[in-house]
Amino acid sequence: MSVELLPAEEIHTRERATTPTLLMCRPLQYEVNYVINPWMSGNMGSSSRVLATEQWNRLQDILSQLAPLVLIDPVPGWPDMVFTANAGLAHEGTVALSSFSHVERQGEEQYFREFFSAAGYRVVDLPRDRPFEGEGDALFSSDGTRLWVGFGRRTAQASHSVLADLWDIEVEGLHLVDDRFYHLDTCFAPLEDGSLLYYPAAFDAASLRKIHEFYSPGQRIAVDEMDALQFACNAVNIGRTIVLHRVSNHLEAELRARGFEVIQTDLSEFLKAGGAAKCLVMKLTPELHPLPKKKD
Ligand code: ARG
Repeated sequence: MSVELLPAEEIHTRERATTPTLLMCRPLQYEVNYVINPWMSGNMGSSSRVLATEQWNRLQDILSQLAPLVLIDPVPGWPDMVFTANAGLAHEGTVALSSFSHVERQGEEQYFREFFSAAGYRVVDLPRDRPFEGEGDALFSSDGTRLWVGFGRRTAQASHSVLADLWDIEVEGLHLVDDRFYHLDTCFAPLEDGSLLYYPAAFDAASLRKIHEFYSPGQRIAVDEMDALQFACNAVNIGRTIVLHRVSNHLEAELRARGFEVIQTDLSEFLKAGGAAKCLVMKLTPELHPLPKKKD
């Protein structure tokens, strides 16, 4: 099965009908003080909170033009909480809460649980022995028919059946084989026109076959290693706008030719922890459950 490419007007209509609310967390506690991915090694103590805050504020400004935002309060001792994509996966009023594979992040779970419960979501815990790292590893195809879930680095393949049963949906596992691309959202981004931005070398052959069966050649935008290392796939796509850290001129031109506006915003402080634009947001479904007001 493959996904239809949508004409620009239709994206616009869908955009209005389905714009998600984005969950973010100010980087007031952000720093690199442990190493749980290759990006962090060598960066312990090297991030600047002042610079990180400036970069995050710019990202917030850009995103606030595109979608409603809500914030969760940062908690001392949990520096990676800023990467809200890993809070869980929200769908139809239910959140599958993350069950982090590293103890360094497990303490975040209770704060995300409280937030989602207060927002009116049904919160479902995943078993500790089946790690799952939320939207960082679980992304719907733009038509919503397929949930792609990474495994092999953080999320365990054994968690996939829990997700499939929870929502009665089709889940397809993708095996991540390059440690630098340890979450699915670092190398795979379904775009709203039905296309896919991805870094093929991050996947094993069987996973690539699944991707290529679903997305036709015209729908695939394969990025090279240079763009992948600039977190080009870690993109937030709302309607026709794509927000990301950096892309090459040729990739930007390709995205523009497909009708997207590309906004690049420096997130270098967050790259030190292994994250960029997409890691810093989680998509919520406010039309189903009311959310707390944005705090300034
Ligand atoms: N330091 C964080 C970790 O290793 C970065 C998380 C990035 N998030 C993401 N959705 N890719 O868990």
